[in-house]
Amino acid sequence: MAVSEKAMEHKDFTNKPLCLSGRGVTKVFGMGDKKTVAVDHVDFDFHEGEFVSIVGESGSGKTTLSKMLLGLSNATEGEILFQGKPRDISNGKKKKEYWKGIQAIFQDPFSSFNTFHKIDSVLLDCINMRGGKNLSKEEKTAMMTEACSFVNLKFAELTNKYPFELSGGQMQRLMIARIFLMKPKILLADEPTSMVDACSRATILDMLLNLRDEIGMTVIFITHDIGLAYYISDTVYIMEHGKFVEYGKADEVILEPKAAYTKRLISDVPKIHEEWDLSTVDLLTEAE
Ligand SMILES: Nc1ncnc2c1ncn2[C@@H]1O[C@H](COP(=O)(O)OP(=O)(O)O)[C@@H](O)[C@H]1O
Ligand SMILES: [Mg+2]
Repeated sequence: MAVSEKAMEHKDFTNKPLCLSGRGVTKVFGMGDKKTVAVDHVDFDFHEGEFVSIVGESGSGKTTLSKMLLGLSNATEGEILFQGKPRDISNGKKKKEYWKGIQAIFQDPFSSFNTFHKIDSVLLDCINMRGGKNLSKEEKTAMMTEACSFVNLKFAELTNKYPFELSGGQMQRLMIARIFLMKPKILLADEPTSMVDACSRATILDMLLNLRDEIGMTVIFITHDIGLAYYISDTVYIMEHGKFVEYGKADEVILEPKAAYTKRLISDVPKIHEEWDLSTVDLLTEAE
């Protein structure tokens, strides 16, 4: 199936098992006059296998929320639940356990890598993290080869390379190969396509959909681009000044927006259907 057809099937997840939820999640930076409420009492329920987008302009609090979801930053107030139970990441061991369940890819793939480690050692780390330390060399190579082919990279051509020898698009695909090996329940992708060219962007979106379809991952996709969110997600949450002003099924929110802010974001994308009827995407995936 071409990526655009697959992407346009917006499913309803309301009755599916819960994966990650939040109640009154809040983050305040600074104090007094310098106080910024970056995330302001947000509630959410993300379900198993759901493709969720969080959409808002720059400064709306998306990255701050991402860091709390990943357990990289503490909420000032509120509670995060993992698979329906209060999340406990109160010590290093519990955090490590939590990170088996949630992993991220970021805007700048180069920032996530130690540039001095060769690519095969980057992938080997993922296998070891998933308890594969004692597998044979052949088994590990087979897993790395499979992960690379999932993202259309050739493992044999990568083994002796360093991350800086790859293009931005290839690096982002390598990030996705790591996710494929680690198989977390949840992938959080914070603007993963904003630093790559249009062609790589379509490929990366297709791979995120494949992670959901083939592994059943929940994907939390963070973007400022409401057209892209409509095209790819089941559910969207619209974020303005740290609050969710509107959320629901992608079709409902974007075709019948209620909040003034959503209407404004949509009016910035004059032809939402035409723009995201990406004929180029079809060509790319069908050529494979
Ligand atoms: N470490 C920080 N210290 C102080 N203010 C911050 C910090 N991180 C983010 N902010 C502020 O929080 C708000 C939301 O930022 P951010 O989460 O990065 O938004 P987005 O990812 O949607 O662009 C902004 O006003 C930003 O300036
Ligand atoms: Mg951000």
